[in-house]
Amino acid sequence: MNLAEYIEGRKEAHLEELKELLRIPSVSAKREHKPDIERAAKWVADKLRASGMKTVEIAPTNLHPLVYAESLEAPGKPTILFYGHYDVQPPEPLELWTSPAFEPAVRNGNLFGRGTADDKGQVHIHLKALESLRAVNGKLPVNVKVLIEGEEEVGSVSLWDYVKNNKAKLKADALVVSDTSMLGRGVPSITYGLRGLNYYQIEITGPSKDLHSGVYGGAVPNPLTVLCELFAKMHDKNFRVTVPGFYDDVRKLSAAERKALNALPWKAKDFKQTVGAPGYCGEKGFSVVERLWTRPTLELNGIWGGYQGEGAKTVIPSKAYAKFSTRLVPDQGPEKIAKLVEKRVRTLLPKTVSCKFEVLSMGKPWAAPFHAPIFKKAIAALEKGFGKKAVFIREGGSIPFVTQMYDTFKVPCVLIGFGLPDENAHAPDEHIALENYFGGIKAVAHFYADLATL
Ligand code: BES
Ligand code: MN
Ligand code: MN
Repeated sequence: MNLAEYIEGRKEAHLEELKELLRIPSVSAKREHKPDIERAAKWVADKLRASGMKTVEIAPTNLHPLVYAESLEAPGKPTILFYGHYDVQPPEPLELWTSPAFEPAVRNGNLFGRGTADDKGQVHIHLKALESLRAVNGKLPVNVKVLIEGEEEVGSVSLWDYVKNNKAKLKADALVVSDTSMLGRGVPSITYGLRGLNYYQIEITGPSKDLHSGVYGGAVPNPLTVLCELFAKMHDKNFRVTVPGFYDDVRKLSAAERKALNALPWKAKDFKQTVGAPGYCGEKGFSVVERLWTRPTLELNGIWGGYQGEGAKTVIPSKAYAKFSTRLVPDQGPEKIAKLVEKRVRTLLPKTVSCKFEVLSMGKPWAAPFHAPIFKKAIAALEKGFGKKAVFIREGGSIPFVTQMYDTFKVPCVLIGFGLPDENAHAPDEHIALENYFGGIKAVAHFYADLATL
């Protein structure tokens, strides 16, 4: 039987198996899901073993375990490292899901559930592609190393140590990742740039305890008001971040790259339909695509404090909190930006409050050339799976491991994503288009097969 027939005949079985993984609520952000994290890691390890990987191990970390597997049985052939993550984002708000987050369901050609697109569905594409290759040929066409982590959605905190301590083990001729999106439906895409991410949390303290806002209001600082004033000052009227030095190291796009990015078949109409805001804003002087993929930002991600229950409560809260983040682009350095941001926050805050400033995670931006021969193979493979020529895009999201691998080994990183921008990653009703899940298995299987002649 040939590869295409083998894959075609197993579509239903593949989908049912993916649903098993999707039913495990492996939410990395919440302690209560620790047992589910362990279960998901074991599920992935078991499936890797079943697909014929010779070495499979679950490596403990300070937080969530990594799953590592290898099959090094193709002497003289290239070695490929495939990376993905089995952890998912929290499902809340639960009431906005049409079907429950961890009860996968198919509707209108889409598979719904937390992790379908980000990233369990995409990891499963590779598991099934590898399994198919082994089933049809008796062995894998190339040497394959697989690393599936469980902390991606919380910043891959343990990963850097693992990479540093396992350099020889992780060494490969190329990194392959499926954790990104296609530019649009029917447009297979290869991502060559990601933004980096620094995540911060601040705690502002005014009075030493909550106060009656009638008895004390007017004569004491209100930390919530101070917080609002602070963030109101973080952007100017042209939507530029007002942190001094923030843009100093931003590499200017070449005219050629700018032209290529703006010529992509990116649809403003689709973007607006997905976002659904009454109006739009962004840094002056840049197109939307440039703003999303090539410009740094500062975003408020959560703000809280004071009374949020039913009815009214007249209180001046003692504390106010915010979570916020900066997306970084080449050549901004995370440490330097974190220092500048902290300085800006401390400079803007009045003497009437104190502030605890925490950096929860840091990650470097990435953008790399794509002329290595492996990219031609990726284009050809995507054409086999999707019947169309792939485009090269950048994206605004972040995958810390890609930068770490690229910096450590300087190997080509091939990011072939099978999600779509409107598939609600991190939001209710996350889904993956079945055509991209199945097309992905086909494309990826051909990709690995073809890499034997890289
Ligand atoms: N898969 C995403 C990253 C992504 C999404 C890249 C879409 C390109 C397009 C990943 O799981 C993710 O959500 N990453 C986090 C970063 C992390 C450090 C918490 C992100 O980008 O917010
Ligand atoms: Mn992801
Ligand atoms: Mn994610």
